[in-house]
Amino acid sequence: MKNILVTGGAGFIGCNFVRFLLRNDPGVHVTVYDKLTYAGRLENLADVESRFGARYAFVHGDICDASTVEETVGRYDIDTIVNFAAETHVDRSILDPDAFVRTDVFGTYVLLEAARKRGNLRFHQVSTDEVYGHIEGDHRSGEGDPLAPRSPYSASKASADLFVNAYHVTYGLPVTISRGANNVGPYQYPEKVVPLFITNALSSIPLPVYGDGQQMRDYQYVLDHCSAMLLIIQEGSFGEAYNVGTGREMTNLSMVEILLDELKAPRSLIQHVEDREGHDRRYSLDVGKVMALGWEPEHDPEEAIRATVRWYRDNESWWKPIRGGEFQEYYDQVYGDRKTLEVDG
Ligand code: NAD
Ligand code: TYD
Repeated sequence: MKNILVTGGAGFIGCNFVRFLLRNDPGVHVTVYDKLTYAGRLENLADVESRFGARYAFVHGDICDASTVEETVGRYDIDTIVNFAAETHVDRSILDPDAFVRTDVFGTYVLLEAARKRGNLRFHQVSTDEVYGHIEGDHRSGEGDPLAPRSPYSASKASADLFVNAYHVTYGLPVTISRGANNVGPYQYPEKVVPLFITNALSSIPLPVYGDGQQMRDYQYVLDHCSAMLLIIQEGSFGEAYNVGTGREMTNLSMVEILLDELKAPRSLIQHVEDREGHDRRYSLDVGKVMALGWEPEHDPEEAIRATVRWYRDNESWWKPIRGGEFQEYYDQVYGDRKTLEVDG
């Protein structure tokens, strides 16, 4: 692994991964390939440009555009593709699934084809725990469990996983897949629940908790996810998927209480609102397989949430400009007419 193409590297996890990779592997050159949608921001990589200039390049492009992808793979003599590029927000996928099918499914296929045509490049697909769908009882999803996605977002990601596996089986492409739990940390676009609630609370706006708030998620720190992915890329077996998370989920209301406690903000900011359509109540991963490679998360979910609160508190200059413009229109569309609910307790 010498010349790595990181698609979606201007987004939340991608920009953290690029920094992590450049710091941890002095021998690599990283080319970020990103369309710069609303979620992709060059300022997320500003310090990368200044600190690692000679080992870093940026290409503005769409992963659905085969000729630009292939030209970039050739120009930078790419040997490894790590695919973060995706439409990623469930609520947006409910409003308009089109871009999800286009980028998350067709875009992944375009990248797989580019990897195949170039002589079977190493390919890592960044997937999600959401492909397993809602998890009943106290079961934890294993990598061999059936994929049972229930939102347009997770259906698109699951389709991509199936294509990645098909390219391994059919063409012998050396692939791995990581299925990460919910990430929190610096540079997450404030549509996702943790940065949304932190920035709402910092602006004294109520926190719209969907339904009863008893849904369960495993909130992992983004850099823990990055270290797992690098290990999987280096040590994972081709054709295999690896779950990545802390293995410790909590309810959304517990997440909110931690976040408000760290901010010293009042519980009265909590406002229960009409639930998300098709809301998966619980995700839960068995992470034994990635741990057997020698990985362990450094943060538990509570520490991850508290560290994230501190970053947003200290970096208003990053998120304040985002909360105007496109974001405000989106916010009004999703939350404007949402009914509030009376929830006991
Ligand atoms: P994000 O929305 O913050 O960033 C996505 C990036 O992809 C942006 O930079 C965007 O400009 C880029 N992009 C979108 N469409 C593109 C296209 N057609 N061509 C090129 N670039 C394009 O997303 P994120 O939260 O950083 O997620 C990154 C990956 O990790 C995604 O594949 C997502 O499914 C997966 N994932 C996310 C989480 C999470 O909690 N955020 C958890 C597990 C897996
Ligand atoms: P989100 O960050 O959208 O991630 P996921 O892909 O897991 O749905 O949401 C995380 C959890 O928070 C999920 O159970 C939905 C809930 N949620 C709210 O209660 N209110 C909100 O405004 C949002 C965006 C999410």
